[in-house]
Amino acid sequence: MKDKVLVLDFGSQVTQLIARRVRESGVYTEIFPYYEPIDKIKEFEPSAIILSGGPASTTVAESPRAHDGIFSMGIPILGICYGEQLLCSMLGGKVESSPKREFGRAYVDIAENSPLFEGVWEKGERKEVWMSHGDHVTALPEGFKVIAATDSAPFAAIADEERRFYGLQFHPEVTHTPEGAKLLTNFVHNIAGISGDWGMATFRKEEINKIRQQVGDKKVICGVSGGVDSSVVAKLLHEAIGDQLLCVFVDTGLLRMDEGKQVREAFERNYHIPLVYSDASEIFLSALSGISDPEQKRKIIGKTFIDVFESEANKVGKFDFLAQGTLYPDVIESVSFSGAETSTIKSHHNVGGLPERMDMKLVEPVRELFKDEVRALGREMGMSSELLDRHPFPGPGLAIRIPGEITPERVKILQEADYIYLDEIKKAGLYDEIWQAFAVLLPVKTVGVMGDSRTYEYVCALRAVTSLDGMTADFYQFSHEFLGRASNRIINEVRGINRVVYDITSKPPGTIEWE
Ligand code: XMP
Repeated sequence: MKDKVLVLDFGSQVTQLIARRVRESGVYTEIFPYYEPIDKIKEFEPSAIILSGGPASTTVAESPRAHDGIFSMGIPILGICYGEQLLCSMLGGKVESSPKREFGRAYVDIAENSPLFEGVWEKGERKEVWMSHGDHVTALPEGFKVIAATDSAPFAAIADEERRFYGLQFHPEVTHTPEGAKLLTNFVHNIAGISGDWGMATFRKEEINKIRQQVGDKKVICGVSGGVDSSVVAKLLHEAIGDQLLCVFVDTGLLRMDEGKQVREAFERNYHIPLVYSDASEIFLSALSGISDPEQKRKIIGKTFIDVFESEANKVGKFDFLAQGTLYPDVIESVSFSGAETSTIKSHHNVGGLPERMDMKLVEPVRELFKDEVRALGREMGMSSELLDRHPFPGPGLAIRIPGEITPERVKILQEADYIYLDEIKKAGLYDEIWQAFAVLLPVKTVGVMGDSRTYEYVCALRAVTSLDGMTADFYQFSHEFLGRASNRIINEVRGINRVVYDITSKPPGTIEWE
């Protein structure tokens, strides 16, 4: 693959956004830690490099630096925030700590027209940007000029047009800089001259070839869960290797209502992908009987899953490869400094340990993609939005939504309540605004009255959160009218629940799941 952009990560919280924005402009981008050796960088053959922001200060001797070999590769370089300061200090300019930190919205005055601003910003205009820095540049290296400035940051945007080196004190990758994405597009299209035709259509073609090369005529097994990642992986693999692929769906009995049926239908009828459906609900429920501790539930479910999966595979024969829906955020080597951990997305691999145990190699065809891109790939392959835009669902399923002991009766009650809740959310057109919504069944009975009689039944808690990546979350602000409607339906239609409450805890301090 030619025409790639490399982002060197100096530990900013938003480094991944840089890569996402550049990819959105149709250019393949990878993130390497700043300390990547220069020969690895050259081997990658980037057509341009972007230096990310970061929490460190170039005024400190030990601060993280890029290898200075990047400046003689003859390719454009863009430094963002810490990246700009680094560019300046490594090329002979000056950076100073300022007593005043600048954080938040700011307005830059465009001092010069530049290829970086082409079609977006013009000399004399004032534009909104997002600043977040303590240090600032106080003297430019030779060859550089100021192309935009603010009152407190006279070097807000700088350029050496001849060498094609640029620096921005503000963050173009965040949406708080309204036209920032266009600046990044200008950098990769106009300045680096990359055409921008990378996208899911190209990825699909190239990845199919890669899978064929990796797998040859060997057999691949893929566990599917009904979730986006494993479904897209299965579809892509099926396009690549057809019947050399076998998908296994383990029904733990802890899924949402009718989920097993829906997944079977989607795979067998719509996509014609061979699927082994294993109804293991009894095995899981009996393994969980009497267990209340959340971590023990997870362990039991993880282990039982592996046992069932392995025994299903063994019935069919020997497999050389296990397919997994590992995503790019799980793969990026994260750069962290004291007190400034970059986000590492929590991953819960329910099949951990399987490849070694069954002596299989891994096929991970979407390990270079972000979640949004996996969805786009699914759309590219004609998969339904119902499957692609689903809320995430945890591997242990309803087991961690029934605090305390899990019984078949409790699972059934929860499935019914959850179904009604999601049905109301969909009818109200709110499903896509919410990251995750689900019902929780509390192992607590309270008194109620229905008709003329007293009831003594379970409490159901409703949860809905908005989030970008599941790491932090806010509770969703439903209207009281909506909550009343959902509550009414649940109490009227579900035998076993006579009280509904809404969870208004954000994460932190809560977690999204109740266990
Ligand atoms: P928490 O509850 O930690 O959830 O705020 C964050 C995200 O992770 C999901 N989650 C899990 N997913 N196995 C999974 O596959 C698990 O054990 C597990 N626990 C939480 C949760 O649904 C949310 O999306």
